[in-house]
Amino acid sequence: MKDHTDTTGAARVLLAQLPTPLERLDRLSAHLGAEIWMKRDDLTGFAGGGNKVRKLEYLMAEAKAAGADTVVTAGALQSNHARQTAAAATRLGMRAVLVLTEAVAGRTAAYDRGGNLALDRLLGAEIRRLPAGSDGAAAFAETVAELEARGARVYPIPVGGSNLTGALGYARAAAEIEEQAAAIGLAPARIVTGSGSAGTQAGLVLGTAIPVLGISVASSAAELAAKVGALVAEGARSLPAFAGAAGREILVDDRFVGPGYGQPTEAMRAALQTVAELEAIFLDPVYSGKAMAGLIALAQEGRLEGPSVFLHTGGMPAIFAYDDVI
Ligand SMILES: Cc1ncc(COP(=O)(O)O)c(C=O)c1O
Repeated sequence: MKDHTDTTGAARVLLAQLPTPLERLDRLSAHLGAEIWMKRDDLTGFAGGGNKVRKLEYLMAEAKAAGADTVVTAGALQSNHARQTAAAATRLGMRAVLVLTEAVAGRTAAYDRGGNLALDRLLGAEIRRLPAGSDGAAAFAETVAELEARGARVYPIPVGGSNLTGALGYARAAAEIEEQAAAIGLAPARIVTGSGSAGTQAGLVLGTAIPVLGISVASSAAELAAKVGALVAEGARSLPAFAGAAGREILVDDRFVGPGYGQPTEAMRAALQTVAELEAIFLDPVYSGKAMAGLIALAQEGRLEGPSVFLHTGGMPAIFAYDDVI
């Protein structure tokens, strides 16, 4: 695998510790009666790790090439993506402005100040908070316009880093999984991932013919599948390396969202507990915990024929923002 560019020719800045491990989870496999492997993207290393580091390698390369001195992104108050964007900007000597919405009702003081937000402050990011119900997209556009009017050279990064450039990080991760699996004679029947703003799942679908099941953490299956499908279609159309991905089936399960994005569920809590107790691995309450709740349910339903690779997308700082449930 080439380093600074890949088969698309897109530039990367090197932020992540790659390859991340692909581990067989013996105790969880025995517990579930299914063969479970974990792709440890919680261990991408940079500033707390997680999936967004891979996307930011491509997004920040574009920011650098555009001569940006400021990046602006948006998300929920406890956004891992915002934390990792702030970290990437810091590393590259750019300013980070985070437009964060109080999107999750009924949370505690820790949610309001701790977890990822504490790390955002440590990184020196400028945080603009929006009350619940705000028009996040409008505030994002206004922030970009205001900074540009004051002379900043702004590179805007969409929510979750989920455009085609960001998704390239997960096309590359898919190739990494294929290489690691081939080296040990493993033939994964599926990859299972938490899916929110769709870029992670879309990148995986672009990068491998192994079926990719997205467990939704926010949207309905129809809505999420449409988002993933649009990104896959764009990639397959515009990048010859991914032409083979056109028409691949988009698999989404939305049964594990619970009351809404960021709202705890009992199945999420149980999944965090099970994986910590059996494997000494920490999942997060918003993404990988709900995704694992999905994987556990599928095992219980007898729907995990063959080896499954669960993508651990990180998010551990949010554990400290959910002190009331964990
Ligand atoms: C820990 C974690 N897992 C999964 C996701 C979902 O990735 P995507 O937004 O690309 O669907 C995110 C996105 O914010 C995340 O922070």
